[in-house]
Formats: sequence, structure tokens, C-alpha cells
Amino acid sequence: MSATDESGAASGTTPQHALPGLLVLGGGGHGRVVAEAAFLSGRFSRLLVVDPQAAAGWSFPICPCVADETGIAAEPADWRFIAAVGDPALRRRLFEAYLHKGFAPASVLHPAAIVSPSAQVGRGVVVCAGAVVATLARLGDGVIVNHAAVVEHDGEVGAFAHLAPGAVLAGGASLGDGSFLGSNASIRHGMRVGPGVVIGNGAAVVADLPEPGTYGGTPARPLNKTTRPRESK
Ligand SMILES: CC(C)(COP(=O)(O)OP(=O)(O)OC[C@H]1O[C@@H](n2cnc3c(N)ncnc32)[C@H](O)[C@@H]1OP(=O)(O)O)[C@@H](O)C(=O)NCCC(=O)NCCS
Repeated sequence: MSATDESGAASGTTPQHALPGLLVLGGGGHGRVVAEAAFLSGRFSRLLVVDPQAAAGWSFPICPCVADETGIAAEPADWRFIAAVGDPALRRRLFEAYLHKGFAPASVLHPAAIVSPSAQVGRGVVVCAGAVVATLARLGDGVIVNHAAVVEHDGEVGAFAHLAPGAVLAGGASLGDGSFLGSNASIRHGMRVGPGVVIGNGAAVVADLPEPGTYGGTPARPLNKTTRPRESK
């Protein structure tokens, strides 16, 4: 990765003045992943991470981190945003709050991700390195398709849902709004997983799971607890 200037501007030959800046909302591990993907995509003139908690101790070569974008007088005309936290409820709140402020959401597609031209990609989506979003797949707003995850043909991922690294949504299957498919977990083709579902890492979903809750194992069954997955911010 090449160096940036102090403002976090991407280097390269693209005319930077023609591109918007990107506010990356969230300075945790996922925020850094998104910032790096945005940098490598070359689609943003500058990057700025916004996180009230991370700002003080922030150290990341790609871009600066501030507690609040008002300090740099960021104008909605010049900046897009992406909510880059793992927690789906917080991701949705940040998404709505910055829409309300007048900023437009941007999706970030890592240059090493493969996204079919026939796929529908919502607003504020990130598709990470090595991921595949196949033919006629549909991703709602605020979706995370993490490293090496696969959304197969005709798969549907609801708003603010998250496929963790290596997760596979097979052809025509669906994952509901705000649901989480753990790393290396899979959903069998055509199966429907409802909203508010957490599927543990390594699970295999072989039947519909319409009820919210936490599931794990092969075949996936309800686990005793209903806590959210432990994720970095
Ligand atoms: C499923 C999950 C959310 C449950 O977390 P939790 O609520 O903290 O649950 P605990 O770790 O206390 O485990 C509760 C029970 O479920 C079992 N369990 C936990 N994860 C499991 C999994 N993936 N598969 C099967 N069983 C699992 C535990 O062994 C435990 O069983 P017990 O009650 O018989 O002892 C979590 O284990 C998980 O898989 N998170 C996803 C991690 C991931 O993919 N992260 C990627 C981030 S990018």
C-alpha cells in the first residue's frame, strides 16, 4: 500500500478533485478494514475516520481519526459516509443519523472483491477482499460482506445484515435484516433465515430459521444464550 498525505488523501493518478471524501464511521477493527478497502478502491479523495472513543488513541497510517467531523467543517456536498461498526443496531443508527445530517451514503467495494454487474447493492454496503457477490444477488442497505464471504446467485441479504469472513449464503438463500452469519458458517441453497438471527461460526443452516435467536452447530440448532456475537466495533 502506498503512502498518503496528512489529510489521508489517496495517492495515484485519478484526478482527486473529482472524487468525494469518505467519512468512515467507526474506528475499531472493522472501521480500519473499511478505511483500507476505501483507500485501495481509489474512489475517494480523502478518508476520515469518525469515532468519539477511538479518536484520542488513533494510530493508522491510511487516514486520521477525529471525534466529530464538525471540526473539519465537512460539508455534505464534499463527503460521503459509510457506517463501519459490526453491531447491526448501531450501524443502522449511524446510517440514519448521517442521512439526517444530509450526507449521502457510499458503498465500498474492495478492488479484490468480485461483485456481479447484475447484483443489486444497497447504500452503505462494504464488500471486503476476496468476497464474491454473484449473479442477481441482492444486498440491502448497510450490509457487510466480510473477507472471502460468498453471496451466491439470487441470494438475498437484508438491510444491516453481516456475513462474517468465509461465510456462504448459497444460491437463492436469504439472510434477514440485521442478522449475522458467523465465520465459515453456511446457509443451504434456498433456505430462509429471518431477521434478528445470529448464527455461530462454523454452523450449517439446512432448514429455514424464521425466529430471532442464536443458533449454532451442524445442523444449526438454537443455542442457550441469545447474546450478540463478540465483535470488534
Ligand atoms: C454463536 C455465538 C454468537 C454465541 O456466543 P455467546 O452467546 O457468547 O455464547 P457462548 O460462547 O457463551 O456459548 C454458549 C453455548 O453455545 C455453544 N457455542 C458457542 N458458539 C458455538 C458455535 N459456533 N457452534 C456451536 N456451539 C457454539 C457453547 O459451547 C456454549 O455451549 P454450552 O452452553 O453447552 O457450554 C458465538 O460463539 C459465535 O459463534 N460468534 C461468531 C463469531 C464470528 O464469526 N465472528 C466473526 C467476526 S468478523
